[in-house]
Amino acid sequence: MKKLTLTIALALAPTLAQAFPWDHDMANQISIKPQESVDGKAGGMKPFPKRSVPVAGTSSFVKDQGAAEKMANPVPADEKSVAEGKRLFAIYCSACHGAGGKGDGKVGEKLVLQPFDLTADQTRSRTDGFIWGYMTFGGAIMPAYANDLNATERWHVVNYVRKTLQGGAATAAAK
Ligand code: HEC
Repeated sequence: MKKLTLTIALALAPTLAQAFPWDHDMANQISIKPQESVDGKAGGMKPFPKRSVPVAGTSSFVKDQGAAEKMANPVPADEKSVAEGKRLFAIYCSACHGAGGKGDGKVGEKLVLQPFDLTADQTRSRTDGFIWGYMTFGGAIMPAYANDLNATERWHVVNYVRKTLQGGAATAAAK
């Protein structure tokens, strides 16, 4: 009877039940946790294998927007790049900037500051590096996309904005 009372008490007290060790059963697996050593005797983190590089997309490779503006576009605006840029723009940009880049996306309507029309003179006169930097660092309202789009993917989007949305506007040279 005592056992039954305890079981009922536990069932009725979920916060208490969660403090018991079995609550961690799923977390405590054989996988190596962040900062944990593979070698039980030697503490500390597992050293990275030689010549390890960060996963593409998590680093912006450039200091700030000012530095980005001066960067030259290293990706030729060929058919393949523009097509990839179109695909990425539809996923990451069109919600705010609209499918045609005119700043008329459905999400954009809800923002305090309306997304800019990327086909307008202002953005046409920007350097490729400026547009790339805007995706890298974001703006006042616009979020940064450096974690979603890697450096090359961002150049593909720049090429799409230039070639298709701005109708092949002469690419503003990096200053
Ligand atoms: C959540 C909405 C939102 C999304 C998504 C978004 N933007 Fe923006 N964008 C804005 C807003 C709002 C502005 C206005 C300026 C600001 O926020 O700093 C802006 C401004 C810009 C500018 C500056 C234009 C200029 O000439 O000053 C560029 C370039 C730009 N966006 C490109 C993009 C690209 C490319 C993508 C997709 C990777 C994108 N944006 C995704 C909201 C968004």
